[in-house]
Amino acid sequence: MRLRFFTLVCLCCCWFVSSEGETVSCSKIVPLGFRSGNISITEFGGVGDGRTLNTKAFREAIYRIQHLPRVGGTLLYVPPGVYLTEPFNLTSHMTLFLAAGAVIMATQDSSNWPLIAPLPSYGRGRELPGGRYMSFMHGNGVQDVVITGENGTIDGQGDVWWNKWRQGSLQFTRPNLVEFVNSKDIIISNVIFKNSPFWNIHPVYSSNVVIRFVTILAPRDSPNTDGIDPDSSSNVCIEDSYISTGDDLVAVKSGWDEYGIAYGLPSSNITIRRVSGSSPFAGIAVGSETSGGVENVLAEHINLYKMGIGIHIKTNSGRGGFIKNITVSHVYMEEARKGIRISGDVGGHPDDKFDPNALPLVKGVTIKNVWGVKVLQAGLIQGVKNSPFTDICLYDINLRGVTGPRNPPWKCSDVSGFAHQVSPWPCSELSSNQQGSCANYS
Ligand SMILES: *[C@@H]1O[C@H](CO)[C@@H](O)[C@H](O)[C@H]1NC(C)=O
Ligand SMILES: *[C@@H]1O[C@H](CO)[C@@H](O)[C@H](O)[C@H]1NC(C)=O
Ligand SMILES: *[C@@H]1O[C@H](CO)[C@@H](O)[C@H](O)[C@H]1NC(C)=O
Ligand SMILES: *[C@@H]1O[C@H](CO)[C@@H](O)[C@H](O)[C@H]1NC(C)=O
Repeated sequence: MRLRFFTLVCLCCCWFVSSEGETVSCSKIVPLGFRSGNISITEFGGVGDGRTLNTKAFREAIYRIQHLPRVGGTLLYVPPGVYLTEPFNLTSHMTLFLAAGAVIMATQDSSNWPLIAPLPSYGRGRELPGGRYMSFMHGNGVQDVVITGENGTIDGQGDVWWNKWRQGSLQFTRPNLVEFVNSKDIIISNVIFKNSPFWNIHPVYSSNVVIRFVTILAPRDSPNTDGIDPDSSSNVCIEDSYISTGDDLVAVKSGWDEYGIAYGLPSSNITIRRVSGSSPFAGIAVGSETSGGVENVLAEHINLYKMGIGIHIKTNSGRGGFIKNITVSHVYMEEARKGIRISGDVGGHPDDKFDPNALPLVKGVTIKNVWGVKVLQAGLIQGVKNSPFTDICLYDINLRGVTGPRNPPWKCSDVSGFAHQVSPWPCSELSSNQQGSCANYS
């Protein structure tokens, strides 16, 4: 299995030779052509003074790109300055280019913020029943879209939303900063994302998505500001990025309970590499919404600081779906409540119509080459009673910390698998005899 996954990575990602040697990169997943059109937001009345509302300028510029197509598409140039705007739709064959010092800033006045339908795989907004606020930048059914530049900033000014959430005064689910629905051939690179109202980057029902050289920042106490959430999407490659937010840094998802089961669209071929950051929740997460299934995930060369949980694979009864062929390797973590958690009882339900007998399948999770210091508890693996987790393989793991008698280093239930050179030594449920797919390790 390990060999097959290795082949997969080589097929979907190119190799380029750097002066240091060979480095794996996802740069060739999405072809990047030359844009013959180049328009500036200032031609559409854009004013970067931080006060003028530029909604009309963005919507008109993008309307122009859509209706006056150029060979290879058009670049929308945003010069230095602070451009306040309401949310807007992206269109196909466009590059949104943020120059150095350019900031596209979301308005804090949510009274005109458009509502859109819930995602069918969630059945409702993630936080509240009914519709949800449109993401600040939204792409629906688009292809060949690039958001890039010279590390300009997309600022969600999320604090008004966080405060409304804390006060319980929101009527609908908060907006993501950037969402692509039913889209393909997307590149997001060399941009800073700041203070998202909710999740930062959310590709859903999408394929061929590259996210690299991005910085994603939100305060540690900001609610639900996940970094990147590939959701029912395939061929997603995330690399060379720094993410520090109030929730999971990267979380691979695929729909929620009966709605996600009915929609049935997995997330697959997800690569995450050379990502670092800090969070009170998880660094690398799968779940908890995994009802359409998640398979073929590779996360490697991950550096984490001041974490809730380093690696968290999470699902629940009622979710159904599957989590298969997940590999996490070369992780360094410093200060974490838990190093590794694989849990079958995490996350709420959309409503009371979920089927408690829809049990998730978790099979084939390999975690290896993990080094941690100041880790309070090494691992917690809680399978589902009538659907135990199988082929959980742990190799070459060293998690040092403050473990004491009230804090046993490992706790496990309803799980089987294999452990090799793991310190502190994990629970007896994990055997030291190679078995199942864990036997393929060399
Ligand atoms: C995942 O990658 C493999 C190998 O490159 C490819 O055959 C398969 O079609 C991909 N899956 C999806 C859903 O694109
Ligand atoms: C696009 O136009 C702007 C000026 O409006 C210029 O500064 C920029 O370099 C151009 N970009 C490309 C890729 O031609
Ligand atoms: C965004 O596009 C959708 C169609 O996908 C349309 O219904 C909606 O009105 C557009 N919203 C804005 C704010 O332009
Ligand atoms: C933008 O930031 C990335 C790191 O995320 C860095 O590698 C790149 O050199 C920066 N680019 C510019 C133009 O400053």
